[in-house]
Amino acid sequence: MSKKIYVAAYHQSAFGKLGAVSVPEIVRRAITEVCESIAVDPAVCDLGAIGATCNISLNEQGLLSGLMAEVPGLAGKPLEGVENACATGGQAILAVVTKLLAGWGEVGIAVGFEKMRDDQGKMDGKAVGRALGFFSHPEEREGKVYVFPHLFAEVMDAYMKTYGVTEEDLAYVAVTEYQNAQHNPYAHMRGVTPSVADVLRIEGINRYIVEGLPLKTYDCSQISDGYAAMILATEEGLQRLGRQAADCVELAGYAQATDPLRKGVRDVLRPEGAYRAMQAAYAMAGVSPEDVDVAEVHDCFTVMGAIGAEVLGLARPGEGARYWREGHAAVGGRCPINTSGGLIAKGHPVGATGVAMVGWCAWQLLGRVPAPLQVKEAKVAATFNIGGPICASVCTVLKAPEA
Ligand SMILES: CC(C)(COP(=O)(O)OP(=O)(O)OC[C@H]1O[C@@H](n2cnc3c(N)ncnc32)[C@H](O)[C@@H]1OP(=O)(O)O)[C@@H](O)C(=O)NCCC(=O)NCCS
Repeated sequence: MSKKIYVAAYHQSAFGKLGAVSVPEIVRRAITEVCESIAVDPAVCDLGAIGATCNISLNEQGLLSGLMAEVPGLAGKPLEGVENACATGGQAILAVVTKLLAGWGEVGIAVGFEKMRDDQGKMDGKAVGRALGFFSHPEEREGKVYVFPHLFAEVMDAYMKTYGVTEEDLAYVAVTEYQNAQHNPYAHMRGVTPSVADVLRIEGINRYIVEGLPLKTYDCSQISDGYAAMILATEEGLQRLGRQAADCVELAGYAQATDPLRKGVRDVLRPEGAYRAMQAAYAMAGVSPEDVDVAEVHDCFTVMGAIGAEVLGLARPGEGARYWREGHAAVGGRCPINTSGGLIAKGHPVGATGVAMVGWCAWQLLGRVPAPLQVKEAKVAATFNIGGPICASVCTVLKAPEA
């Protein structure tokens, strides 16, 4: 029986615009602020992992583990930089967990961030589109400007045609998430509340991103700055931190799987690696989809909200969009999904996202999210974080202290 792993602390910045803050300062803030949240010194950590997907291309900075080691108390410890596209944050958590299980230490820190906007908060959508495009297969990237919106416009088109789903069905994913984000103080899109009609109407910022394909601006996740950090610990580690297991969420199940990068060679509507990772995480936690009370899925585009519900096992293949349309994913629904606002409305600072999904679920299970978003008596949570064209998946299952 391997050791139990707990989320000892979680902290994030508001997602959106960080302004004039350097990359070393982002790393320093992420680490010191999560430590401050439970009144410990960074030196308490035995090891760590960090990732920021586009940092080399957008900010010309690599070797992020070295920036972690700049924080007093972390130098000379096993610190690792990780990258798995938009699943980088989830991968940073797993890098810490596997080292804790291997006995390298009892307390570890996982950090994810992204700085995608300039110091004035402006973004260059085309430049970001190119930088994100590096995480696709070269043969599938050719000729595309907004590479990922384009690839997922194809996925959306295929999903709609295969299952007889409409743009209106998928609009409910965006509308539900924008509504949730209004109550999340960390969300990028506070103050933006589109209706289904707004999501469908081509007007102002809302346009078809690629001619002839159904994906519109409101179907897309945000280009956001932000950071997220988590302290993970074994039972022995919790003692060192002065925390009780009875007060902490357990990371009861976790798994990772990666499919071939080219989406054209496989069934992306039923991504094998994603299903496999989710099922492995459920099996490890000893739960099934019916046990899940709240979830966060990787809705980089609305179609992924639908596919995410299917990967979680909450809806059958092809019925994920209906799950949202019928209100089952809303707060108060059968199993609320993306109560944080998701990547579409909470925002998507790519490297931070996987950490933030687990962190928000931990807050849900501790009863610590704002009242309008709080799922009552939530005991089990699940997350599904993906990188690339539904290529690399990190899935987790969390259990509330008394579950
Ligand atoms: C949808 C997208 C292509 C729009 O990019 P763009 O055409 O360069 O941006 P626009 O010129 O339309 O945006 C102009 C403004 O509208 C804002 N805006 C964009 N989408 C918005 C939305 N859904 N709601 C409200 N405002 C929005 C932008 O933030 C920007 O304002 P700012 O400069 O004050 O920040 C871009 O947001 C995008 O690529 N999103 C997906 C990101 C992605 O692929 N992530 C990885 C997933 S795998």
